[in-house]
Amino acid sequence: MRFYATTPIYYVNDLPHIGHIYSTVVGDALTRFHRLIGDPTRFLTGTDEHGQKIEKAAAEQNLRPIELADRVVARYGELWKMYDIANDDFIRTTEPRHRQGVTALISKIEAAGDFYTARHEGWYCSGCEIFYTEKELDSEKRCPIHGTVCTWESEENVFFRLSKYAEPLLRHIEAHPGFIRPETRRAEVVSFIRGGLNDLSVSRTKLQWGIPFPNHPGHVVYVWLDALANYITALGFGAEDDRLYREFWVDPESRRVHLIGKDILRFHAVYWPAFLLSAGLPLPTTVWAHGWWLRDGKKISKSVGGIVRPDELAATFGPDAVRYFLLREMAFGQDASFSDEAFLVRYNADLANDLGNTVSRVAALCRQSFGSAPTVPCGVNEIHTAYRPLRKEWREAMEELAFHRALEAVWKLLSQINGYVVSREPWKIRKEEGASDRLQRILYGAAEGVRLAAVLLSPFLPATSRKIFETLGLPPRDPDEHDLRWGGLVLGAPLPESPALFPRADIAAYLKGEQSPMEDKPTPPPAASVPAPAATPEAPRVETTQAVSPATSDARIGIEEFQKVRLVTAKVLTAERVPKSNKLMKLQVDLGTEQRQIVAGIAARYEPEALVGRNVVIVANLKPAKLMGVESNGMVLAATVGEAGEPSLLEVASDVPPGSRVK
Ligand code: ME8
Ligand code: MG
Repeated sequence: MRFYATTPIYYVNDLPHIGHIYSTVVGDALTRFHRLIGDPTRFLTGTDEHGQKIEKAAAEQNLRPIELADRVVARYGELWKMYDIANDDFIRTTEPRHRQGVTALISKIEAAGDFYTARHEGWYCSGCEIFYTEKELDSEKRCPIHGTVCTWESEENVFFRLSKYAEPLLRHIEAHPGFIRPETRRAEVVSFIRGGLNDLSVSRTKLQWGIPFPNHPGHVVYVWLDALANYITALGFGAEDDRLYREFWVDPESRRVHLIGKDILRFHAVYWPAFLLSAGLPLPTTVWAHGWWLRDGKKISKSVGGIVRPDELAATFGPDAVRYFLLREMAFGQDASFSDEAFLVRYNADLANDLGNTVSRVAALCRQSFGSAPTVPCGVNEIHTAYRPLRKEWREAMEELAFHRALEAVWKLLSQINGYVVSREPWKIRKEEGASDRLQRILYGAAEGVRLAAVLLSPFLPATSRKIFETLGLPPRDPDEHDLRWGGLVLGAPLPESPALFPRADIAAYLKGEQSPMEDKPTPPPAASVPAPAATPEAPRVETTQAVSPATSDARIGIEEFQKVRLVTAKVLTAERVPKSNKLMKLQVDLGTEQRQIVAGIAARYEPEALVGRNVVIVANLKPAKLMGVESNGMVLAATVGEAGEPSLLEVASDVPPGSRVK
């Protein structure tokens, strides 16, 4: 099956931010997955360069629009290279091939009799590049997305008979349950169409910066009609050579998926399919809208502010760490909050610990035992048995664009590998038997598990996946479907000494703005980065089981271990936000016999006033720590709710005296 995925084409009024990276990383992961399972695949991204918004932004910077566009496009180019984005094409709406395709599309709509000219008046938001009706705006005529005041515009325009397509669109949506996803967005679109569709003005005369509207001198094509067409003009629609267009758009066997943010749902699920219906062209298979990255509860956006520039995180922690966070933290379709704290916690727990340690541990055990990869393969073993259903889980999650679930499946595999190594105790076998066949087979199982984890990870963390291949003595390359099968390890391959994939970060230092957040000291690389069994193979520390995330680990602890944790009740006396942090709240709490200061990551959810007087549960015997420079002497317990991990405080009845032991 042919698979075609697109991202929105981004406006060039300003530099990219984390939201643009998100959509593009999602498209990249999805298309890398389809290439991996053997589908002929195309991935398109690009830039939207015409319209009032760009004209205005360029004028403000004393540039011609194309100069601004060229600068921003160069930045996108660098960014996509840095993030390992394997797009097959990059379309700019200022390219001749695009203009030619738009003109061809317009002549088809014209031939269908769907254009007419009339005077148009309305409230225009240049941030959205759309007219709003009175009822969509507040009393001050502010745009619901940007909060900026819309301007009244009145001009003679070409109109598209959108109203004619309300019924055909509803029928198409009805007949194709997968057309708009997720379900909530489909319901939204259906109710929008049922509310009635007005004809759409598709030309502008006040503006020069656009594609000339065929047969209407003085008019340029409305920027959304221009922009949406990119999905087919990039395939060669309207060009002499339209082979790609026929293969990836017209062929009924092709799957055509538009990945978008929910901010531009209406354009993709109503206007675009209506243009296509009018022109008699096939519709996309699926318009899949994801949620927003929020900061302080607001959408991160160029026009609204609150921008998170990804360069710094990627420069410090590597682009794969950012890719991982974006794909793991957001349940595709829902909103998620972006915070440095959440990024760092995942970085240390999931990447440095679970992934990095598992890889370096297994590689180090092989190196120390054989000086190479194992030389004796093992047949079916428990890693192989665990792998098969997890591969299925991974694949099914990817078909649903549930990236976070696909990643969870990979982490379950890592957890299995860790558990396997711990239970087989290869360091003991080596002591007793040397490099025996039994040891070979055990480490083969573990190393082959690591290789398969790298294959499953490759759509998400392509550079890391290649590095893991190298660590196992394999050529660093993007894997294909054959690599998904058990048994791809090269027997006896020399294993290079590799640096840690993800050196641990010192979270507190980073949040305080210190230069180098890495905890890694300049000690010998493998020993410093490889956990217990490698450094002191005969004495594996408990860390081996802690190396997997608690959510996926089956490891049990004894009651005596639990009893080491002193849980007590405490009453909150005062609460105030930690300056410059979205999450952190400084609390003074009463433990009955003493008063303490505790810093808790609950500020995004609770107001300080709502905390005073509450009875909470704290861990009383934690070592003191500094969070953003503020000392904390304990930890407040909270449940983490939902995908976003919202804290919900554990509470005890108000008549329980402070300092009561919880056990
Ligand atoms: O709308 N969270 O371009 P644009 C998640 N040119 N995704 C976000 C985001 C956030 N906070 N902010 C932006 C346009 N995005 C038009 C599109 S398509 C024919 C024309 C992502 O630069 C998301 O995919 O405003 C959103 O739909 C897109 O960037 C908007 O980018
Ligand atoms: Mg936008």
